[in-house]
Amino acid sequence: MLIDVPQNKAYALLTGGPTVFITSRSPEGRDNVMANAWNTLFNMDPTQVIVVFDLGHDSTKNIIASGEFGISVPGNALKKGLIGAGTMHARDITEDKFAYAHLEKLPARQINASLVGGALAHLECRIMDPELFARTGIALAEVVAAQVEEDYWDGASLICDNRPEQTLHSAGAYTYFPRGHVQPWSPR
Ligand SMILES: Cc1cc2nc3c(=O)[nH]c(=O)nc-3n(C[C@H](O)[C@H](O)[C@H](O)COP(=O)(O)O)c2cc1C
Repeated sequence: MLIDVPQNKAYALLTGGPTVFITSRSPEGRDNVMANAWNTLFNMDPTQVIVVFDLGHDSTKNIIASGEFGISVPGNALKKGLIGAGTMHARDITEDKFAYAHLEKLPARQINASLVGGALAHLECRIMDPELFARTGIALAEVVAAQVEEDYWDGASLICDNRPEQTLHSAGAYTYFPRGHVQPWSPR
């Protein structure tokens, strides 16, 4: 039996990619980190991404000002930190948000922000359409640097099979699933 899903809950039927950390730095030099599940790819070469932000977040304000943000892809070891970073606005705490969420900082190479130490992969991004972002919170961004843990990369894909860390995938409003067994679409 099919049941109706309210328009404001329909997003939960389509989420699937990794839930990630988004990092940024304020004009005053204060680092911030938040959780983000609404992200996808826009172009392969060069890699460009779409990340959706609430306009009210402190991270969004940082990124409007700087035009830059980091994406760090966590495994299960960083799950508590992801929820910590994703449930508190920087404006509501006096301490550094990384310290609040028990996260380590890793210096970025191309952007003015910290990345999240211990994550499996990192993408450093620059906003391509500042007007679109400031108006809607849709960040169309180009990846200007990317790094991955060597043991989790087969040259073409992030791999977690038979490894201790699994990426985390949003399954709706309050739930997630670990990456699971990855298979080729067809035999090679
Ligand atoms: C698992 C999870 C996924 C989230 N995904 C998003 C998202 O895709 N976009 C968004 O704007 N906020 C998302 N959030 C909410 C922000 O991470 C959260 O409001 C954060 O506290 C914002 O911090 P800031 O105001 O310091 O930037 C998510 C939160 C959690 C826990």
